[in-house]
Amino acid sequence: MKKVLITRKLLRSNEERLSKLWDAKLNLNDEIYSQNQLIELSKDCDGILSSIVDKIDEETINKLSDSVKIISNFAVGFGNIDIKTARKKNIIVTNTPDVLTNATAEIAMLLILGAARRASEGIKWVRNKNWKWSADFLIGKQLEDSRLGILGMGRIGRAVALRAKSFGMKIHYHNRSKLNSDLEAGATYHNNIQSLFSVSDILSINCPATSETKNIINKETLEFFPQGAIITNSARGDMINDEAMVQALINKRIYALGLDVYNGEPDIHSGYLNQPNVFILPHLGSATKKTRTAMADLAIDNIEEYFKTGKCTNIVN
Ligand code: DGY
Repeated sequence: MKKVLITRKLLRSNEERLSKLWDAKLNLNDEIYSQNQLIELSKDCDGILSSIVDKIDEETINKLSDSVKIISNFAVGFGNIDIKTARKKNIIVTNTPDVLTNATAEIAMLLILGAARRASEGIKWVRNKNWKWSADFLIGKQLEDSRLGILGMGRIGRAVALRAKSFGMKIHYHNRSKLNSDLEAGATYHNNIQSLFSVSDILSINCPATSETKNIINKETLEFFPQGAIITNSARGDMINDEAMVQALINKRIYALGLDVYNGEPDIHSGYLNQPNVFILPHLGSATKKTRTAMADLAIDNIEEYFKTGKCTNIVN
């Protein structure tokens, strides 16, 4: 029987399925494994079902037992795994695309709304029980008729565009290449970030974390935005240079920021915590029962397909 290490606790239905399929080494206490623990625990395994919190870097991969042939990441993003080293060691890495598109787009809309309508400040006032309604109390920005820039018009970016249009927003985007008109659905393409940022009253970051997108929002590129723009990030923390962003919030160059993801998660740059115009969530993009169940099912399907056929549809390396 094949043996699989599952690095984090999953929803019960997924764990039951895993236990029926294989000798599944579950993590019932949901402990976060160190790299050494991961290497040790997967010693006799044929595969690993990993999560975004497992940093499976070059050194870790090189120390994995030769029996490990697949790392099935329970996420669409796979920046936590050194996929090139895995390839060299003949380990396939897979991800879970599609199934989390809508849940993540919903969180992207929540970030946009939360930042634009000053939700963090509002919540604080209500909790402190000292607010009173007045005509100019917590005036925010209206989405209707504003321009939404989408950085990364893949599946999630397009799902954000669809939702934002129903709020009356005008959609602009930048992608490595222009989409065909069906996928574009009326959005305006910009072939460089300066052009996109300069028309973004609100920016939604939905691109993958790569060496090209790391720190793409920095001191220089923040200057491209209209005065008082809003920036939101539901992709990965690496895209934002936190020092530059905190400064832009302090000097009001940027009106508000909405974040679901962070550099060095679960840490957060301390400069954000004192800013009233920062709306923050703890990486909830895919956190619905429907989506987390579907993601784990797909991560399991990926291993099953590989064990049966030696191939897998969702290989990323
Ligand atoms: C993903 O799938 O990359 C999500 O961020 C995980 O929650």
